[in-house]
Amino acid sequence: MFNWCIIGTGKIAKKVAKQIVMNEGHQIVSVYNRTKEKAEKFAKKYNSTVYESALDAINDPRVNGVYIATTNETHFSYCKLCLENHKPVLCEKPITGNAKELKELIRISEENNTFLREAMWTWFNPVANKVKQWIKEERIGKIKSVDCIFNMPIFGYNKSKGRYISPAKYGGALLDLGVYSVRYVYELFGKPNAIESRGKLYNGIDLYNVSKFKYDGFEARVSSQINKLVGEHCIIIGEKGKIKVPFFHMTSKAVLKTKDGKEVFRDKKKKFATEFRVVAEYIKGEKPDELVSLQSSLDVVEIMDEIRKQIGVIFPSD
Ligand SMILES: NC(=O)c1ccc[n+]([C@@H]2O[C@H](COP(=O)([O-])OP(=O)(O)OC[C@H]3O[C@@H](n4cnc5c(N)ncnc54)[C@H](OP(=O)(O)O)[C@@H]3O)[C@@H](O)[C@H]2O)c1
Repeated sequence: MFNWCIIGTGKIAKKVAKQIVMNEGHQIVSVYNRTKEKAEKFAKKYNSTVYESALDAINDPRVNGVYIATTNETHFSYCKLCLENHKPVLCEKPITGNAKELKELIRISEENNTFLREAMWTWFNPVANKVKQWIKEERIGKIKSVDCIFNMPIFGYNKSKGRYISPAKYGGALLDLGVYSVRYVYELFGKPNAIESRGKLYNGIDLYNVSKFKYDGFEARVSSQINKLVGEHCIIIGEKGKIKVPFFHMTSKAVLKTKDGKEVFRDKKKKFATEFRVVAEYIKGEKPDELVSLQSSLDVVEIMDEIRKQIGVIFPSD
């Protein structure tokens, strides 16, 4: 049995919860949401207990792990609450708004020997790991260029909601979508030697950002945008071929083309379910290999701090 506590019952929590309970032995036993009526509606589906506070919810004695699915600016305080109470915690992306916050969480996690990870589901997906393997095995040879873009017009759909356009809520394209494109390039090639960024700002957040990540012998173009529907892909060109990953953050397919022909890798498994299964195994001490590390989250947050510094996006907690 693995018993989850869920903090925040918005859009993503609803999607994820359906898959959590597809895992054998996983259940959602405790729930907290700022608006109690929404927690009650959510809890009814899973036969979970609704609590008046996050502290009470995480301290339900049955809880083995906590999933934080509230808005970006609240991640730090809810993660801190879990870690201080020795509750293993998996937090939605972006795990924090800046490296200062994440370093503090890592400190408490180490001090209290309590599990903390970012719910970066892309890297629990075998497709992303297959792309990494193709590159490691030099299937496309020496890398010549990379283009990794993630654009969704959420600014247009959600203008009234405010969270996407508020620096106090860690809004903007980079924190919402760029966390995936930055992470993708980072996972494949590591931290860049240098970064050059520009962006278009609105109300103190970025509607658009584009960066050149400089590596030995090639550059990666990494961008994200919330005011236009441009698309989502990662294209990696090498001297001996090309890898194309459409919708890379959640994809079921990657394509490798070389002079020897075309290879398509597909995986149709439920991706949130896999993420929660692996995390639960880790918490139980089973040490599965697929786990996204905390250091990788810190590296990505540090890269995003640098991009924000260059384009002029400042959060109150910086
Ligand atoms: N992994 C993914 O694919 C994915 C996809 C989308 C989003 N996300 C991440 O998931 C998180 C939630 O996104 P969403 O799309 O689910 O948002 P959403 O539908 O707007 O839900 C936001 C949730 O946060 C709660 N909340 C908002 N402000 C709060 C505050 N000040 N204190 C406590 N709770 C607060 C809301 O409570 P009320 O009900 O009281 O308003 C609601 O439960 C974000 O960090 C986002 O980046 C991940």
